[in-house]
Amino acid sequence: MTERSCLSIILAAGEGTRMKSARPKVLHEIAGLAMVAHVAAAAKAAGGGDVALVVGHGGDEVRKAAARLDPAPEIFVQEERLGTAHAVLAARAAIARGHDDILVMFGDTPLIEADVLLYARRKLAGGAAVVVVGFRPQNPAGYGRLIEKDGRLVAIREHKDASEAERKIGFCNGGLMAIGGSHALALLDAVGNANANQEFYLTDIVEIAAARGLDVVAVEASAESVLGINNRAELAEAEGIWQRRRRREAMLAGVTLIAPETVHFSHDTQIGQDTLVEPNVWFGPDVRIAAGATIHAFSHIEGATIATGSQVGPFARLRPGADLHEKAKVGNFCEVKKATVEKGAKVNHLTYIGDARVGEGANIGAGTVTCNYDGYSKFHTDIGAGSFVGSNSSLVAPVSLGDGAYVASGSVITEDVEADALAFGRARQKQIPGKARELRERFAAAAAAKKKAG
Ligand code: UD1
Ligand code: CA
Repeated sequence: MTERSCLSIILAAGEGTRMKSARPKVLHEIAGLAMVAHVAAAAKAAGGGDVALVVGHGGDEVRKAAARLDPAPEIFVQEERLGTAHAVLAARAAIARGHDDILVMFGDTPLIEADVLLYARRKLAGGAAVVVVGFRPQNPAGYGRLIEKDGRLVAIREHKDASEAERKIGFCNGGLMAIGGSHALALLDAVGNANANQEFYLTDIVEIAAARGLDVVAVEASAESVLGINNRAELAEAEGIWQRRRRREAMLAGVTLIAPETVHFSHDTQIGQDTLVEPNVWFGPDVRIAAGATIHAFSHIEGATIATGSQVGPFARLRPGADLHEKAKVGNFCEVKKATVEKGAKVNHLTYIGDARVGEGANIGAGTVTCNYDGYSKFHTDIGAGSFVGSNSSLVAPVSLGDGAYVASGSVITEDVEADALAFGRARQKQIPGKARELRERFAAAAAAKKKAG
């Protein structure tokens, strides 16, 4: 298999008007990754990492986004939208390079899985000239029907062009095709546009190939995996399917999800074995969690690294650059951004730690805030190992606490504190014996006089 070269052509010239969006359809995201990137990733996983992307006139935004894709595709422009065969032929120069296999995919069909593509390629390796990925939708209206004769695929009839009898067929074209590279150009060039839409249909190559005595086969995929996205409701449906798949994969890999349907993964979330994720947790992009961590309920986590034995939440927010070392704790209503919380350190309640280091074993009291921003620039706070910050303290950066420093509750710390020193950054308490009673009597007398005066 590996010795067969493969070109993947992804069609993305459609306008996607039903998305009602300023953003091109294929750049809408599933699990934080553009649909077209999901398609390219599946292609790559199936050995079709040589990607040609066909964009429409004015597809600058798609082109720009495509440059960042993995794999980065070669871009072709379909100036006029004359049909799917015409779109494939926009990549003629790539096809002419003579790959063994050609996969044709749609940029708006993001749930396609590599194993379906690999299966189709295997059919090509076995001698098929064209492989169609079919499926059985609940409602076949609108899809191309797979016409079989004597158990052989002989044509695909688009819904608009199909007869009453043909419309009764439930086996439909999922839109994906694998074409033998040596046949591709000859078949595509033979496609005409004598149909209801006057479009050059890619699907017509089936009838052309069959008439030429070439081997044409259909393989079946699940309706989910060929779901095409046309509007935001379908986008959300695809997101749901993707999330279900990912949660299952995580659980089978040893992650405990107590209420899986309430946990949201990003396309790149990494999460280790025996990590426990409680209900209602959101993972944004770029999160890495080691084995044996605990993510308590209602936590919102992005761009964070979480080491073994760490505890996060409930109701914690970890923002990009949060780096929790082994057995660190970030508790309820805490926000951590661009900060390292070293081994065993605790940031447990109602705290903001930004642009900082919290040294090993340090304890940060409730309501502590690193004042990292003066409205113009960000500054660093360094908290030494084993130090203790009393509740409701403000650490005004740039500032550092030495190892073992102790900050009195309610302090505003503007100057560095040396190791093992105690720092007060607040007025000392004063006590006046009997003064409370005296005040009460005075206030009561004043109120009574006022009432009497009426
Ligand atoms: C297509 C198939 C149909 C199949 C269905 C599955 C054809 C002729 N029909 O129909 O058999 O059941 O998908 O969803 O292939 N595109 C271009 N340039 C064009 C035309 C289309 O890039 O000139 C792209 C679109 O952006 C889209 C894809 O090709 O991503 C499919 O085109 P679309 O018009 O949606 O085809 P369907 O009518 O859905
Ligand atoms: Ca479509």
